[in-house]
Amino acid sequence: MSKILGIGIATLDIINYVDSFPEENSEVRAVKQIITRGGNVTNSLCVLSQLNHQTSWCGTLANENDASIILDDLNKYQVNCDLVKTFANGKVPTSYILLNMQNGSRSIVHHRDLPELDFDHFKSISLTDFDWIHFEARNIDQTLKMLQHLKQFHPDIQCSVEFEKQRDGIEQLYELADVLIFSKNYSLSNHQTDPLRFLNTLRQTLTDKTLILAWADQGSYGCTDGSVVHHEAAQRPTNITDTLGAGDTFNAAVIDSILDGCSLQKTLSKANRLAACKIAISGFDLSDYVR
Ligand code: FRU
Repeated sequence: MSKILGIGIATLDIINYVDSFPEENSEVRAVKQIITRGGNVTNSLCVLSQLNHQTSWCGTLANENDASIILDDLNKYQVNCDLVKTFANGKVPTSYILLNMQNGSRSIVHHRDLPELDFDHFKSISLTDFDWIHFEARNIDQTLKMLQHLKQFHPDIQCSVEFEKQRDGIEQLYELADVLIFSKNYSLSNHQTDPLRFLNTLRQTLTDKTLILAWADQGSYGCTDGSVVHHEAAQRPTNITDTLGAGDTFNAAVIDSILDGCSLQKTLSKANRLAACKIAISGFDLSDYVR
């Protein structure tokens, strides 16, 4: 069991399940609607809790009714929220999601008007107790300062950064992370369609890092100090139910496996497997799969 802190956002996810993706300027009726908590880092923390880690989230919330949906869900997964910064006004980050029941694909419209976590709040936290800190690569100038602070004052705490979307200045974070987890989408948005080439290029300069790259149904790739290794995707379930947060589940399994001392091959294999389990279920209750 390790103590893990996650820095990033929690969202209110309004998920409409539809029979198929609608045409533009058409009307469709949702088969069902679920209103729940989401957000990459908190999704990963909910999975890490089920993998028997002690987890805490630090991010921002607004003092409004929907914040309780987020807090209740995190409480259910025993994610500690004592470090959260709450704003008196504003709306929690809200994501409007269309979940296509034919293939589990998710399309998202984000509404964001709440300030993100700032460095001053992060600096005020006592970090000494944590074994691992996982960051979302967002709000780059503030996250950069957080990582610099971490390296300067707590060099023994391991840290991972999730690179999901291209953002201005994001590359500045590379040097400060121990484990860099890239999404396929991030690689493609860097015009890198070849996963091997993407990682091989990065490892020229990031020699002492662990690099991980998820590549959907082609599995995942990783690199520590040697050459890039590939692990085939786990068998996809026949009932693909919900791909929302599959990447966040993959990230949680990567962190858990590295903390567990697994080899890179084993880490990729466990992460691929748990991500495949996640898409068979709606939400993040993976209790049937993690024991
Ligand atoms: C899934 C997710 C959703 C959320 C969105 C935020 O990875 O975290 O729960 O709405 O992405 O980008």
